[in-house]
Amino acid sequence: MRPIEFTLNGARARVTVEPHETLLWVLRQRLAATEVKSGCERGDCGACAVVLDGRAINSCLALAVQAEGKSVLTVRGLGGPEAPHPLQATFVELGAAQCGICIPGMLVSLYAFLQEHPRATRGEIREAIGGNLCRCTGYQKIVDAAEAAARRLVGATE
Ligand code: FES
Ligand code: FES
Repeated sequence: MRPIEFTLNGARARVTVEPHETLLWVLRQRLAATEVKSGCERGDCGACAVVLDGRAINSCLALAVQAEGKSVLTVRGLGGPEAPHPLQATFVELGAAQCGICIPGMLVSLYAFLQEHPRATRGEIREAIGGNLCRCTGYQKIVDAAEAAARRLVGATE
């Protein structure tokens, strides 16, 4: 076992991990970050996506020790019911979530992407979430909401 420390949604997280434990497992099982969803656990679905030092990754493919000293952002860190991030608010307003399992991964992937590409086209947005699978196949509304949120975010900075 090895102690590691990183920032989780702005707060310091200290946890002891086995060298082989994935970041997904440690977030959910040791740090109660169950907003990070577990799907395939082999890098295929994007349900487990988190933002690690500004970059969206599949946490099932990362070892927890790789988070040492870094910053991890989950959908909970984006915002909550009282103060939702524009992405979250727009997804709710446009009814873009069905069962919701894919949504935390979609939102953090979109967050990281739009940070880098605030004026992305619809096609680029679709590509950015190409690794986030929705079993409910709600892609139309998801992309509609992502596009609307991107416009809202750009508008807020002008
Ligand atoms: S659970 Fe990580 S990609 Fe599917
Ligand atoms: S909303 Fe159900 S998997 Fe996407």
